[in-house]
Amino acid sequence: MQVVKQACGPHILYRLLDDVGCTLGRAVTSETSSEVRLHEIYVKPEYRSRGYGNALMRAILSFDVTKLVTLCTGLTNISFFKQHEFKVTGTNDSLVFMSRKASMPKAE
Ligand SMILES: CC(C)(COP(=O)(O)OP(=O)(O)OC[C@H]1O[C@@H](n2cnc3c(N)ncnc32)[C@H](O)[C@@H]1OP(=O)(O)O)[C@@H](O)C(=O)NCCC(=O)NCCS
Repeated sequence: MQVVKQACGPHILYRLLDDVGCTLGRAVTSETSSEVRLHEIYVKPEYRSRGYGNALMRAILSFDVTKLVTLCTGLTNISFFKQHEFKVTGTNDSLVFMSRKASMPKAE
């Protein structure tokens, strides 16, 4: 299993691939100099609850440890993102806004 990161217009596409190159899931982000916006994270239904969502999330965060990461998602997904240190910053009837503070840059 591996995560491949590629530019896709203004977005960055992360693809989670199995050992023979089939796509198990994906995530889409965009970024500014200070912030990464997570637009989508998705694991194919037949591959869910096997740790692939966590693996994809860890890969995204390892690429972008030094930036604030923000997202907007459905209320039912809060616990998934809390596992990755996201905190709720706002809610409305059906959506929740979350962010994860930037980590310190890795020491050389
Ligand atoms: C959210 C999603 C990516 C998780 O993928 P996954 O491969 O099933 O996740 P994992 O197997 O790595 O599970 C990680 C943990 O989060 C929990 N979890 C999984 N999906 C969850 C969800 N939708 N809401 C809350 N918790 C969830 C699991 O129970 C697991 O907890 P554990 O480690 O304590 O057992 C997947 O359910 C999905 O594609 N959902 C549809 C798209 C979506 O709603 N994406 C999020 C907003 S863009």
